[in-house]
Order: sequence, then C-alpha cells, then structure tokens
Amino acid sequence: MTLTVNETVAVIGAGTMGAGIAQVAAKFGHSVLLYDKMEGAAQAGLDRTAKGLEKLVARGKMSEEDKNALVSRIQATENLADLAPARLVVEAIVENLAVKQSVFSELEELCGDDTILATNTSSISVTSIGAALKRPENLVGMHFFNPAPIMKLVEVIKGLATSEEVAQQVYDLSTAWGKHAVMAKSTPGFIVNRVARPFYAEGLRVLEEGGADEATIDAIARESGQFRMGPFELMDLIGHDVNYSVTASVFDAYYGDQRFLPSLIQKDLVEAGFHGRKTGRGFYDYSEGAEKAQPNTLAKQDAPSAITVEGNLGVAEALVSRIEAAGISVHRQSEHEAQGRICIGNLVLALTDGRMATERAAAEQRSELVLFDLALDYATAGRIALVKADQASEASLNQAAGLFQALDIQVSVIDDVPGMVLMRTVAMLANEGADAVNQQVCDVAAVDVAMQSGVNYPKGPMAWADQVGLSHIHTVLSNLVASYGEDRYRPSPLLRRKVFAQGSFHGGASHD
Ligand code: NAI
Repeated sequence: MTLTVNETVAVIGAGTMGAGIAQVAAKFGHSVLLYDKMEGAAQAGLDRTAKGLEKLVARGKMSEEDKNALVSRIQATENLADLAPARLVVEAIVENLAVKQSVFSELEELCGDDTILATNTSSISVTSIGAALKRPENLVGMHFFNPAPIMKLVEVIKGLATSEEVAQQVYDLSTAWGKHAVMAKSTPGFIVNRVARPFYAEGLRVLEEGGADEATIDAIARESGQFRMGPFELMDLIGHDVNYSVTASVFDAYYGDQRFLPSLIQKDLVEAGFHGRKTGRGFYDYSEGAEKAQPNTLAKQDAPSAITVEGNLGVAEALVSRIEAAGISVHRQSEHEAQGRICIGNLVLALTDGRMATERAAAEQRSELVLFDLALDYATAGRIALVKADQASEASLNQAAGLFQALDIQVSVIDDVPGMVLMRTVAMLANEGADAVNQQVCDVAAVDVAMQSGVNYPKGPMAWADQVGLSHIHTVLSNLVASYGEDRYRPSPLLRRKVFAQGSFHGGASHD
C-alpha cells in the first residue's frame, strides 16, 4: 500500500518544525491539518508559513496562485478530534517521552487502525515511545532537519516494533515529497546526530591541546575541507546549550563510550552562559564592533624552483600537476615503495598518517620533516595546514610553505598534534559511520546521504574515506590510538575488514 496525495496528513505541534513539515506536505498537494494544544499557536504557525511563502513570491520564486493554493490546503485546528481522518500524523511537539506517549495514545483512539503515526523526535527512542501504544507497529520516526522546507534529509527511524511496511511507506512518501530519505534503526543519535559528533569533538580536542585556535581550525575546515562552516562557527550558530546537550545525551545513551565524550571547553561555555550567536558570545565575540578573529596564515615565503616526488602521493596526487602549472620543475622517482612524499633538498614533505610529525621524524631517522593535512580536493584547495617535527628547522617549514603558497594555497602552521585537523576529523567521521553500518543501524549509502543532505557535508564521510584510501584511514586511527592510548580512536571492525579485503566502503578497489 502506498500513501498518495489524496490522503490527509496531520501535523501535531505548530512550532519551528511542525509548521515547516505542514508546508512540505501541503506543497506536495495533501490536505493538511495543523494542530497545536496552545491557544492560537496553530493559526500562528500557519500565518508564519504564509508569511515565509510571501517572501518567495516577492522574489519571484513562487507564483501568487501556488502560494494561495498551498496555504489553503493547510487547516489550523485546536481540536485534536479533528485529526481523525488523517492517514499519516506527524508529531513535532515538545521533546518529552511521557508527553509524546500520551499524545500518540490519544491518537490511537481517534484515528483509524491503519493510520501511520510518525514522530519527528531527534533524541528519544522510537521503541520507547511505541512501548506505550496498542499498535506500536504503526509508529515510525520521521526526522526532518531545520528548516524542514529547505533541508532535504528525512531519517526514517524504525523502532523495534515498527512494521517494515509502515517504514517503507514513510520512506516512499518522503521521497515523493522531494526529500532524500534514509532508513535507520532507532539508536541514540540515529545517523546524523551520531556520525556528526567527531566534527565537533576533534576540533575541540585540537583546540584544547593548543594545536590551533578556533579561527584557524574553522578556516582549515572551510578552505581545505570545503565544509560550509568550521566546527566552532557552527557550534556558535547551533548554540552551545543545544550542541552540548546533544553530545551529552548521545554519550550517556552509549553508556559513556569515550568516542562521544563531551568537551570541558564546551561545558565551560554553557555554564558561563556563552551560548554562541544568540547570546552574543560563544567561541567568538559577536558584540557590536568586536574584531573578527582571523586564522593564522603564514606570510609569503620563497618558492622552491624544483622538487622531487618519490612514489605516488595517493589522495594528494593532484598537487603534482598544480606544482607543475606553477612553473616549479618536478622530478619523479617512481620506485619509492612507501607512502609517496615530496622532497625539496633534504626536506621531506608528506601527508599526515596520524602520527605526530616529531614521532615520525624520530621513527624515520630524519630531522627535516614537515607534514601536510588532508584536503577535500588538492586541485582546488585554498588553504592547507602544515606542521613541522620538533627536530626540523624553521627554514624547512618555510620552504614547505613556499611550495604551497606558489600554488595560491594559504598556509596555516599548526602545532604538532597527531593526525592534524582535517585528517583526524574525516577519519573519525568515517569510523563512526562504519560503526553505525557495522551495528546494522543503516547502510553505507545512507550515511553519506544523511551527512550531505542533513548537515551539508561537502562529501559523504564514507566516500571521502574511500577517496583517501581505507588502509590510510585505518593507519591514521591506529596511530591516534597509539598517541593517545585511548579507546576513543579504535578502528571499527568494518573498516578493518574492508582493509584486509583491500576493498572500499562503496565497493570497487581502494585508492591505495
Ligand atoms: P517548538 O518549541 O518550536 O514547537 C513545539 C510546539 O509544540 C509548540 O507550538 C507547542 O505549543 C506544541 N506542543 C507542545 N506540547 C504539545 C502537545 N502535548 N500537544 C500539541 N502541541 C504541543 O519545537 P520544535 O523545535 O519545532 O521541535 C519539535 C520537535 O521536533 C521536538 O521533538 C524536537 O526534538 C524535534 N526536532 C527539532 C529540530 C529543530 O532544529 N528545532 C530538528 C529536528 C527535530
């Protein structure tokens, strides 16, 4: 059975999410009943939606008739009994288990036996909500992202008792509404709020250890990683109260798994009331006249006239043609067997493998070692992070910087933290995705769709790890384990398995 446009959809809770979800359903053509228990709230939600659409009309993005037709399909109500004819009810009320259970219990009495009950909860177990119901098989998670009319992702969440057919119907309907739907088992954080944790956590770690400051880490994430925002500006936007409580709830829900350990730096911000943009101060100062923090960017250094590339640079191979295009002569030595590297005189420049540069220099018995960080696309990256081994000279660092600057790449020198900034972040994002897949929460494709459509990642973490090469990602994580001695960085068994099979998450041959 499929849900068609002729079915009535009800939305409960006309706040930020509910009003947006009502708009999405009405845009597709459903008759929508929008209910809120607070007096005047349903009509206010509808009025906000109409106002938002008027702006689209003014900008020529929607016709007046289409706007009027959409709005006329939504009916605000303060009477729960009016929802009886709905075939799908989407709940977006307060995030409280008991309140949600009681609303769904009432709905079970009011609506038909085959009415699908969907919850937009971001953090409550769908299984727990269903436990209070007579027909828990009809309850499913339908997790939209804010703002619902714009963000493409819908996580369809199956509780233990949810019927496959109900989940599939909601998945198909979400797709028909123009959304990117993914299916996941009800587990803490579902996909996005779980897999995204390292994006914040690794940035916070690097900051805490003095690897780099906020503005530098953010610039690396944007200009090397092509993320729309770096972790600190994003946390400031979300609000530290909200972001910290999500982290803390996922940490608790996984019985204190160190991978989700909240950061003391963020706890301090919450306790100080520095919640981010909304309070005028978070990691950054938003007060009027405050100076914008700038990333650390190294002054221009001399470019080398020639370099030698030993072996293949793997994911960073695109640098070679960029170096040639900058008029620097490149001598290639292909017989080199280990990970490829760039040599300028006695300086060796290599992609981080998760070890501190200082440790690697000692292991390789060379002093002049400089490491560079991961970039999403070395052919277009506008910034790169560099780190020098303690044994290496400033002159070597400047030589390495001069090479990247000759390619129009800004250089941020960071302190010697294992795995630098982007490499450890991407390795941990992919590792978290791999564990979600390994634990049967969702499939590989769902992780990538979720992170791209739910939080605008420039590339899905699984595909990104494939691009880097899974054996390299595994090496990075293993070296992080060795550096920290912490279980937090343990590689997922699925990642290990793929490495032994010389495979990739998305199938086909791995990069290295
Ligand atoms: P909100 O506070 O903007 O709106 C909630 C609305 O529900 C209010 O209008 C309130 O009057 C109404 N309400 C509360 N209890 C009710 C009840 N028993 N019956 C009927 N109406 C009731 O909240 P928001 O942000 O829209 O969140 C709603 C749900 O969506 C929560 O479960 C939240 O976790 C989830 N969510 C929120 C996202 C966000 O970014 N705000 C993103 C994804 C999910």
